[in-house]
Order: sequence, then C-alpha cells, then structure tokens
Amino acid sequence: MIDSTHKKYPPRIDKRVINHQYLPCSLDILIKETILPFDCYIKRYGDYVVIIQAGTYISGELLEKMSNNKEIYLLKEDSEKIGQYKTELNVIDLSDSRFNVLETCEERLSVMYTTMSNAMKAIFDNRDEKLPLEALYTYLDQLAKCVDLETNILSLLLKNIPDEYTTHHHSTNVAFFAVILAKAIHLSQEEIIDVGFTGLVHDIGKIRIDSNLLLKPSRLDDDEYEIVKHHADDGYAILADNGIINQKILNGVRFHHERLDGSGYPKGLRRKLIPKYAQIVGVCDVFDALTTKRTFRKNYTSYEALLVMKQEMASQFDDLYVNTFIKLLSRNS
Ligand SMILES: [Fe+2]
Ligand SMILES: [Fe+2]
Repeated sequence: MIDSTHKKYPPRIDKRVINHQYLPCSLDILIKETILPFDCYIKRYGDYVVIIQAGTYISGELLEKMSNNKEIYLLKEDSEKIGQYKTELNVIDLSDSRFNVLETCEERLSVMYTTMSNAMKAIFDNRDEKLPLEALYTYLDQLAKCVDLETNILSLLLKNIPDEYTTHHHSTNVAFFAVILAKAIHLSQEEIIDVGFTGLVHDIGKIRIDSNLLLKPSRLDDDEYEIVKHHADDGYAILADNGIINQKILNGVRFHHERLDGSGYPKGLRRKLIPKYAQIVGVCDVFDALTTKRTFRKNYTSYEALLVMKQEMASQFDDLYVNTFIKLLSRNS
C-alpha cells in the first residue's frame, strides 16, 4: 500500500477487502497533483489489494511508479467520490486532514494551482456563462489563507507555472499574483480574496471570443484586436449576470486594461479614475503576459519583464504595485 505521506514506496500490501464489488479502471483516473479521495486496488493472486490509499497525494513520481499497472480497480461503493473527483471542480478544504498530509507550502500551492486551473479550463472549454462561483470563491479563500509571504512563494510559483500560454493557466497565474500582491500591500483578508477572484475571472469575457482568434499564432490585425477588446465589457456583463454586485470586482474586470497614462481600454481612463482592483490585476496581467511564451514573440524572464514595466511602461502602472512585485521577487530569489 502506498502510504498517504507518499514517501514509503514500494507499497506494502497489507490490506485485503472481501465481499465488495470492484470496477476495473484505467490509470487515467489518477489526476496529477490531487489528493485521492478513495482507495485504489490491484488484483493479486485472485484478491484485490489496496495499492493507493485514500488521502494519498498523487505526485508525478507516484504516477510514474504506477505506470507498470495496466489496470486498477475501484470500489463500486466509492462511485460518488469518484464522480466528484473527476468533475475537476473538486474543492479541497484546507481544514481537511487529506490536505494536511501535504507537508510543504510547495505541495499545497501545487494542488491549489492544478485545482484552480482545471476549473478555469472547464469553464473556458465549455463556454458556459453560468459560473461555479461558490467553488471559485472557495479556492480564493483557501489560497489567501495559504499564501505566506515569509516563504519564497513567488519564486516557487514562477518555477512551477507552465511556460506555454493558455487562457486557463493565465487566469490562474493572475489570481495567484494578485493574492500575493494584495497581501504584500496589506489589504484586508476580504479584499485579498476579492482581488484574487478579480484576477481569476479578469478574462472571463473571452469565453465569447472564437478560440481560433484567441489562439491565433501571429499578432492580431486591427479588426481582430477590436473584437478581443470587447472581453473587458463582456466580462463585466457575464459577472453581473451571475449575480455579482460587488462593484470593485465588476469594475476590476471591466477596467483591467486601462493604463494610468490613458492609453488603455475600454474607456481610456487616467490615473485615479482607474479602480484599485483593476490596477493590481492589470499589473499582474501584464507581468504574466510578458513572462509567458507566445508563438509571435519570445518570453521575458521575471527580471526582464519587471524591467520593461519599470522603464518602457513606467507611465502605465502605479510604482507601488510594480515596486512591490520587484521587492517580492528580489527577496525570494
Ligand atoms: Fe484581459
Ligand atoms: Fe489577461
């Protein structure tokens, strides 16, 4: 059996379960960087024996070790748990003992990152404008509790986020950056969660844009850029339709492309007229865009991106936010 601390491989086969019904299942059921909520079995000498115990963290290393087993078995009575696990919106509760087996900040953030980006992938893939707000808010609440600025959190995060651009990873990255930045400038816990949520859904309006246009491997022409610019207003409308009435969040999404010098959109707002959440999310958005690989340009290192934002784009962002980002990065590197 693989111990729930996932550190005692090879497994000891020490548990036999009889008089149960087992369902054969492929290894695809195991999702990397999640916590398995049910026992997993293999067949050995005609008996079913536990190979991965419920509560085990599914690391990449564990998946590799499991790859020799062509078929695994699950208990039929666990069907409900299995269904929830596969929905990709399975919320991991920080107070849950299964989550507490994760000893390091890195492991916890990794599980949160995967859970959040899977949820955003499902939203963008399905283009369903009815958002799972409760689940999304729960993620942000958990993330805000877990972020500890005394650790090297920003470096850990930057080390682990994928290089390639996808809208769901971008949304998750911006949410993580926004929570870290909001915490570093000492916003209240409630505001940290709200700013993080604004970051997570800042590009939600893009579910109304054709994916061929979003994933176009070259620069957009003027007409295409006009279409893409609609996502800011569309994001506001989608969130309002979902019953969100918090104007800070709504305007944070609507104005995240506004710039202090008036060069942004949709309104060309200047300086103090740009809401705080929009400014914070805007800085995180640009930082992520610059550091992510795109087919039409190279990606910058974190240091280069912040240098560009501090120098070439200096008129666009409030120094407070860019400088805080730089301090976080230099302290943690
Ligand atoms: Fe955007
Ligand atoms: Fe964005």
